[in-house]
Amino acid sequence: MLSLVSATDPVWVARALAGLDEILLDHAHCEKKAASTALSLVFKYPEQGGLPEALSRLAREELAHFEEVLGHLRARGIPFRHQVPSPYAAELMRAVRPAEPARLLDTLLCMALVEARSCERMTLLADALADPALAALYRGLLASEARHHQAYVDLAARFFPDIEVRARLRDLAAHEAAVLAAAPALPRLHT
Ligand SMILES: [Fe+2]
Repeated sequence: MLSLVSATDPVWVARALAGLDEILLDHAHCEKKAASTALSLVFKYPEQGGLPEALSRLAREELAHFEEVLGHLRARGIPFRHQVPSPYAAELMRAVRPAEPARLLDTLLCMALVEARSCERMTLLADALADPALAALYRGLLASEARHHQAYVDLAARFFPDIEVRARLRDLAAHEAAVLAAAPALPRLHT
């Protein structure tokens, strides 16, 4: 699904349901980070045709989701606060090659994989959650996450040959699966 090479272990769903407040808090931080990363790419690559428009739009959507999740936190009486993040994103990005243009390709594809994993996990949450408001939240976010995944892949395909994008996406998806398998058992979206 969505370029991923591993499916989430059902154990993760049980852990997420048991630590729902932490999951929601992590989710808010993830939306904020996704917006920040998209915007940082607009700063870094203003000359890449189509990238500023696509990632500005994506960043706005992520911030709208951030505010939506903040609303759910508020409704549940959970204060928004600092939280130790999963090492997933940092470990995933270690595969980004330092020299351009490989750096741009790898960053776009790693972000595509983050969006894909979020989409997979939100699907599982939407199906498993008993709380109708939270199930509706995750059900409502699925299409956006899938679209964000595609937006990053499309940008990569705009700047790099198809064959290179496909090969690198396969390699990075294997890395993503390994990073996830090694992540600590915390209640986070990406562990
Ligand atoms: Fe997203």
